Amino acid sequence: MPQAFTPPTPDLAQYSPVGKIRLGDYITYFKAMSTNPLSAWGEDHYKLRIAPFRFLGRKSVMLNDPDTIHHCFVTNASNYKMNPIRQAVLRPFLRDGLLTAEGATWKTARHAVAPVFTPRKINAFAPGIRDVTVENAAAIDCLVGGDISASRLMVDMTLDILIGTLFSGDKALDKTRFTANINRLIEITGIPHVFDLISAPDWIPRIGHGASRRVIADLRRQVGEIADQRRQVSDESGPNKPVAQNKKADFLDLLLGAGLEDEAVIDNLLTFMAAGHETTARSLAWTLYLLSSAPDVREKLEAEIDNATLDEDDPAGWMDQLPWTVAVLKESLRLYPSAPILTRSTLGPDQLGEHKISDNTEIIVSTWLLHRHADLWDAPEEFRPSRFFGEAEKDIPRYAYLPFGLGPRVCIGARFAMMEMVIVLAVLLRRFRFDHVGTQQPVPVMRITLQPDTDMMMRVSRR
Ligand code: HEM
Repeated sequence: MPQAFTPPTPDLAQYSPVGKIRLGDYITYFKAMSTNPLSAWGEDHYKLRIAPFRFLGRKSVMLNDPDTIHHCFVTNASNYKMNPIRQAVLRPFLRDGLLTAEGATWKTARHAVAPVFTPRKINAFAPGIRDVTVENAAAIDCLVGGDISASRLMVDMTLDILIGTLFSGDKALDKTRFTANINRLIEITGIPHVFDLISAPDWIPRIGHGASRRVIADLRRQVGEIADQRRQVSDESGPNKPVAQNKKADFLDLLLGAGLEDEAVIDNLLTFMAAGHETTARSLAWTLYLLSSAPDVREKLEAEIDNATLDEDDPAGWMDQLPWTVAVLKESLRLYPSAPILTRSTLGPDQLGEHKISDNTEIIVSTWLLHRHADLWDAPEEFRPSRFFGEAEKDIPRYAYLPFGLGPRVCIGARFAMMEMVIVLAVLLRRFRFDHVGTQQPVPVMRITLQPDTDMMMRVSRR
């Protein structure tokens, strides 16, 4: 059997999560947080289960223990709220969208939005996703023989797909302006501001926030205008009807029909964009990189795609027809969880294993660490999709694999994301091969998602 590929990782920090924190540790930590938070983890972080610690007066607990994670996020979820640092980064943009809403507002929104994400509604997006991918494949065909950035390619393609499913190519959308705004936002946000990390008061200005506020205001304006136009048309033609007679309902139609206030529709559309775009784009790009580094895995995947009789009328069904492709994607999400951290704050005291914790304690679950934990995974550093194939998947410890989170706030778009990624891989890899070029291997950098520190240049060839 060929040796499994082990992708490169950031350097380990030289301190321990337990014991006294020294001045040098603070410096290392801040440096890591402002460059690559993944390098804030030392060797012990990959072995610990529960580690309470204090940092700059803030009480925190690092959790790597599946049952305790289940306790915090599921059994006792009502004792936890969203983490203030994450809220400081995301709330100005997403306001009361599902990702950032809290308490009763979140409950109402989740209840209203859940019917938009039923398997039947999500499956109905599959042909549109396939069509956009085929259009993109035609453009890639012109690049055969040349080198392209897989990272850029996937960011652009998934944005195209999402714009198609959110607004179904509504003529009222100035796509260039919208795309430029989203790309600008990816550039300027993504890393917690150091003032947010130390919980400095809101009135202290954060550099870069002015620019992002302008971009956000413009995005909200654009989405608001399209929503207004749709409302007017549906007021004239009856409620919840798609604008054009023969047009399939898109996310905007579905949200307008879900009984949400106008502002909540905008909050949630932008939330789907924020939560669903970069996460999917990064996962696909990392998958292409892994495949190019593991020729045996890639050959097996190509054979599966070539030999499957894929029903062109039902691309949603491809997920069942391509189990190895699904296993590759799951393993890619294990090694590169594109939402690499789940954080919460306690509302009241709790008991985590032998540790009593008080209110206002920060809970940190790094899926990056959990998915590479020495006790939970066999050869955690290796790319081995067979862990997720057939019966082997049953051996994965419960709650040790959480790319989409868990509990009441589990990712509502998980099915959409998996379906989209399978369709994209099936369409592209049936036609092309992507081979990583250059000697510098991409190392993940944690922003809001896991980004590569290179452009991930790949040579495209026709199969
Ligand atoms: C590979 C792709 C994706 C990954 C890895 C991912 C991961 C996650 C994770 C880990 C959470 C839980 C966060 C927490 O508990 O703090 C989450 C929540 C969420 N995701 Fe995703 N996601 C992906 C794609 C999508 C897509 C495509 C959409 C929408 C179209 C979406 C919409 C959401 C929303 C709205 C929430 C908040 C749910 C709530 O709090 O009720 N995600 N996602």
